Amino acid sequence: MSGRKRVGVLISGRGSNLQALIDAAREPDYPAEIALVISNVPGVEGLARAEAADIPTRVVNHKDFASRPDFETALEAALHEAGVELLCNAGFMRLLTEGFVTRWLNRHLNIHPSLLPAFKGLHTHVRVLESGAKISGCTVHFVRAAMDDGPIVAQAAVPVEPGDTEETLAARVLAAEHRLYPHALRLVASGAVRVDGEHVVGMSQQNGKTALFSPPLPGTF
Ligand code: GRF
Repeated sequence: MSGRKRVGVLISGRGSNLQALIDAAREPDYPAEIALVISNVPGVEGLARAEAADIPTRVVNHKDFASRPDFETALEAALHEAGVELLCNAGFMRLLTEGFVTRWLNRHLNIHPSLLPAFKGLHTHVRVLESGAKISGCTVHFVRAAMDDGPIVAQAAVPVEPGDTEETLAARVLAAEHRLYPHALRLVASGAVRVDGEHVVGMSQQNGKTALFSPPLPGTF
């Protein structure tokens, strides 16, 4: 497929969501290709996954920089060199400055393992279990300066089962993440959705009009 969006993926670890994006981008009709994977942590499994798929990788270790802006300058140099048009955080464990977020506004996605705006931040699954919630899930959203904040592209829900532990709930949510992220990136990369007033809305050119629709969600129940 020609005209595929060049995507950069930021990781810090295991890279199973990266793997889901790599696998999706192998489909001939997928509207995005993974042009570069950057990890801020050396030696992580996600880098090996990218290398196995012949995708260029870079390590930009935040510990090598005196300040967050210096770290981000190095990140952006690598992204621009690779011609990256869209950015996906996939288990990327660094907060980014407002300057960086503004420069990538509405071209930058994150995945979080809860149904946002509930349960932002770390240790999500433990807090879901402590809350007694009966449904959890995952969210892909455009990145804003506040953590786990920004216009929601797509969500998938999973049940919280009696007897769940952090591990069993995390595994159920992760399986949903692996379906959701490729779906959400497809919507964004193909231009099927846009941000309108901090909400994500659908675009359709039927009858010369722009129609709004709710993006179909990959169900997991
Ligand atoms: C995922 O649960 C993601 O939602 C969260 O961190 C985890 C990363 O897992 N932000 P992986 O590195 O993609 O396997």
